[in-house]
Amino acid sequence: MSEPKSKNITWHGADVSQAEREQALGQKGVVVWLTGLSASGKSTIARRVEQKLLERGVHVYVLDGDNLRMGLNKDLGFSPADRTENIRRVGCVAQLFADAGIVVLTAFISPYRTDRDNVREHVTAGRFVEVHVCTSLADCESRDPKGLYKKAREGKIPEFTGISAPYEAPERPEVKLDNSGQTVDESADALIAELNRLGFATA
Ligand code: ADX
Repeated sequence: MSEPKSKNITWHGADVSQAEREQALGQKGVVVWLTGLSASGKSTIARRVEQKLLERGVHVYVLDGDNLRMGLNKDLGFSPADRTENIRRVGCVAQLFADAGIVVLTAFISPYRTDRDNVREHVTAGRFVEVHVCTSLADCESRDPKGLYKKAREGKIPEFTGISAPYEAPERPEVKLDNSGQTVDESADALIAELNRLGFATA
């Protein structure tokens, strides 16, 4: 990430170590980064995973693209530079959650590989799980829950991912989820199984 604009600032380390925090909570903090096209199912799967993990006593939280764009990121649109800034901010917030020992699931298109890789670098080593929700464009477009693909095809939404703006699929995601033909529960269970296999979300 780039250098901060402020000059005379000093990093204050915490008095509580990550290990102490995690021992108290009985779990490891981790950033579970869902990436994929609009309507691929990222938010729906993340929310179902959140619900299931909460029921098992895991401390978990979802950060969602549409929601954060109403607050923290309300000044950002969908130009390449704005998307990069969107992902940078979310990456910083997600790292804070993970540092606090939370399992944080993020649901952002995050179309640029470099932006996702920058987040991976910013997050504590080994605590970033990239999940490609690889639902095809054809399936996303046929779902079109918000009618956005239709509008994009009509030229009413500029720079729409998959139609008039790029999506760079991850090359080596930790997890690949194809939810076509799967129920939300099946996709959520598959992701939880993968997280458990990687040693996370096992409170
Ligand atoms: S990202 O590209 O910067 O990661 P983000 O996940 O925050 O995007 O927001 C995507 C959501 O914004 C989509 O699910 C959709 O509801 C809405 N949206 C509005 N305009 C666009 C657009 N031009 N491209 C993609 N999504 C858009």
